[in-house]
Amino acid sequence: MLLELKSAGVTFGGTLFAGPRKRALAPLSLSVGGVPHILAVVGESGSGKTTLTRLLLGLLRPSTGAVTWNGDDVWRLPKPKFAEYRRAVQAVFQDPFGAYNPVYRVDRMLILPALRFGLAGSEEAARPLAEAALAAVGLRPAETLGRFPHQLSGGQRQRLMVARAMMLKPSVLIADEPVSMVDASLRATILETLYRLRQDGGMSLVYVTHDLATAYQIADSIMVMRNGEVVEQGETVSVIRTPAHSYTRDLVAALPPPDPTIDWGLESTT
Ligand SMILES: Nc1ncnc2c1ncn2[C@@H]1O[C@H](COP(=O)(O)OP(=O)(O)OP(=O)(O)O)[C@@H](O)[C@H]1O
Ligand SMILES: [Mg+2]
Repeated sequence: MLLELKSAGVTFGGTLFAGPRKRALAPLSLSVGGVPHILAVVGESGSGKTTLTRLLLGLLRPSTGAVTWNGDDVWRLPKPKFAEYRRAVQAVFQDPFGAYNPVYRVDRMLILPALRFGLAGSEEAARPLAEAALAAVGLRPAETLGRFPHQLSGGQRQRLMVARAMMLKPSVLIADEPVSMVDASLRATILETLYRLRQDGGMSLVYVTHDLATAYQIADSIMVMRNGEVVEQGETVSVIRTPAHSYTRDLVAALPPPDPTIDWGLESTT
């Protein structure tokens, strides 16, 4: 299970109707999913983080280079392999509203993929999976399953996306600001759940965030982006302790002191 960017870069525009040329992502090589790993991608707004995730998810074609799944170009995968890739690489999007079909209730949104990806043979069999996934992100199934997405708060919608992704047990989860609208204590719970999926379930995570503090808590390595380029990359501890780039130094200087009221349960890793 290996998802790779091979000198993949993205340039938008440059044609008469598409606006001026804009390089959103300089050519970048990256491997995800070989060994279970959490990669945090941090950087200011517009630095290319979401563009990177859209490449990995096969939602955006690279302008140069390639995106490969187990060595094969994801844009040329034969149907069965493409289906396997779609199941194995799941997403939590930055904008949880845009990601939902507004006419489906929450139960449909969890049960349909469980059936489609063969996790359950029937709706009755899928329901307990859906309920367990909701409970893992702090949502009460009884209150949530019958609702439409617009009847949930932003933070509840984000948690629903995390629940859906986790239920499908992907090899790779690409999470773009997955907990930005969730309050601090619940954020810790959800990130801890994701962390455990990497520990116990062998899942790899690409965790996009503005928040260096949570990246520090769960990531094995950190990639810092600026203006479409990776300005720094390395093991979490060394990036935080000895940031090489001035932009990273500023981020580190802005880190809040550790909050003793949040129990991350991650002590064994540090
Ligand atoms: N479809 C598009 N057409 C033209 N330009 C785009 C498009 N999508 C993104 N861009 C530009 O590419 C750059 C990178 O955008 P991207 O969404 O990857 O940033 P980001 O790091 O995710 O920012 P944020 O933290 O605000 O989510 C930005 O300058 C953005 O305006
Ligand atoms: Mg973004």
